[in-house]
Amino acid sequence: MRIIQRAADLRVNPPRPLGLVPTMGYLHEGHLELIRRAAAENQEVVVSIFVNPLQFGPGEDYQSYPRDLERDARLAEEAGADWIFHPSPEEMYPPGFATTVHVSGPLTERWEGERRPGHFDGVATVVSKLFNIVRPDRAYFGEKDYQQLQVVKRFNADLNLGVEIVPVPIVREPDGLARSSRNVYLDAETRPKATVLYRALLAVRQAAQSGLSPEEALAAGRAVFDETPEFAADYLAVVHPQTLQPLEQWTAGARAIAAGRFPAVRLIDNMEVMGS
Ligand code: PAF
Repeated sequence: MRIIQRAADLRVNPPRPLGLVPTMGYLHEGHLELIRRAAAENQEVVVSIFVNPLQFGPGEDYQSYPRDLERDARLAEEAGADWIFHPSPEEMYPPGFATTVHVSGPLTERWEGERRPGHFDGVATVVSKLFNIVRPDRAYFGEKDYQQLQVVKRFNADLNLGVEIVPVPIVREPDGLARSSRNVYLDAETRPKATVLYRALLAVRQAAQSGLSPEEALAAGRAVFDETPEFAADYLAVVHPQTLQPLEQWTAGARAIAAGRFPAVRLIDNMEVMGS
């Protein structure tokens, strides 16, 4: 496996199909699942590790975001990566850089887009750049960041980037907590309570599958939130799986999405609640 910092050092004519796994590093089992899947389906796999300053808002954790390249390189290689692309911020955004990829409309206005203004511009800009630098046939994204996945699908189609976007199911801890690099911020006291999102989503799914309406199902989920006063919910919604617009009636593939904060960390999660 090779670790490179400069876009110019990537191979011009790589063996194809070529898979890309974009990450911000501090790899966990969710990322490793993406890399394994990419390794199984492609001739070569590039894993990008770049903590992208553009997608962090003021007061967010850009500076303190966990970083450990040595550990990441070992884990990525074991999972089947052939290349690690680890650019500097200057390599990605040289002086004079002035372009933003912006997905407009309801897909980015609500949920994470509302709580984290500019976040999806940062994601869309960096992922477009990674697609242009690496020129992959396929790119792998975890369903944990479900809205991000829909945003990536949108600009990939709108800009004719021609990359096959491969969604990979959420990897969870044994107690249901979705794997995330930010789980390191959870202290011993908060960690068991952090399953509140998962439990709320399960309650929504159970209610949905027992014939209750979306509104009644959400009430069941909110009741779970109410049992954990340290958790400040940002949203719990049932949405259309592609547009992410709230549903008043069930549709195939309906998704429950949720986010909220403990004092030291903000968590997001989602779950399909109606079979597709
Ligand atoms: O999901 C992430 O880790 C990031 O948002 C991504 C897709 C690597 C872009 O920086």
